[in-house]
Amino acid sequence: FPGVAYIPVVVHVVYNTDAQNISEAQITSQIDVLNRDFRATNPDVSIVPPAFAPLIADSRVEFFLASTDPSGNPTNGITRTKTSVASFGSDDKVKRASTGGHDAWPADKYLNLWVCQLGGGLLGYAQFPGGPAVTDGVVCTHSGFGTVGTAAAPFHLGRTATHEVGHYLNLFHIWGDDGSGCGGTDEVADTPNQGGPNTGVPTFPHVSCSNGPNGDLFYDYMDYSDDAVLVMFTRGQAARMEACLDGVRRSLIQ
Ligand code: ARG
Ligand code: ZN
Ligand code: CA
Repeated sequence: FPGVAYIPVVVHVVYNTDAQNISEAQITSQIDVLNRDFRATNPDVSIVPPAFAPLIADSRVEFFLASTDPSGNPTNGITRTKTSVASFGSDDKVKRASTGGHDAWPADKYLNLWVCQLGGGLLGYAQFPGGPAVTDGVVCTHSGFGTVGTAAAPFHLGRTATHEVGHYLNLFHIWGDDGSGCGGTDEVADTPNQGGPNTGVPTFPHVSCSNGPNGDLFYDYMDYSDDAVLVMFTRGQAARMEACLDGVRRSLIQ
């Protein structure tokens, strides 16, 4: 695709309590974060040390709430469903009306983004490209979604969705998903080899796997640091997402 890939999004709000029925303002705050993060226009990218600055990439992907539903009717790109389920897990129940959630819209035309109460401290999860259409998309807990309303520190800057959409566009965790070992890989050439995930607000540099002097790229959206620290994708990651959008997820682009 030439230039920027524009991706239509449908947000399925699945709520048990009224508080979980998040506002349109909270939803649009998340779409705004996605657009800044994927274009590297997020102001907090300035926290990245000079040593890592050359890696910062504009991923050239933008997101918008869908304006046409699967039947061709006008929509605000938001569905709202009252559920009797108090808390969901990573078992995809939120993705089906028959299990207390809301069915996906056609996954070849929309990024489905479910927002609900997740349990067990789970902030979100995503399906990688190539999986079943009925479960394709991203799930976020409402308290880790957007920047206003029920969004709660330290996951109140919308970075869970940025991270999960990274997975949805084929990015692996930056530490290579090998526990804390040095043998795993995220299949991206320009990310430093990293032991395990970083959490909280790490101090630069955090060296692992002989990756000194600059150490782990814990500023990367595909690490597990707090939202205030996750501020960039690398050029290699942007290229991997572009390959996904040129391939398996091509039909999404508008
Ligand atoms: N636990 C989630 C996952 O593995 C995402 C964590 C996002 N981190 C954050 N600081 N928002 O996909
Ligand atoms: Zn993840
Ligand atoms: Ca590792």
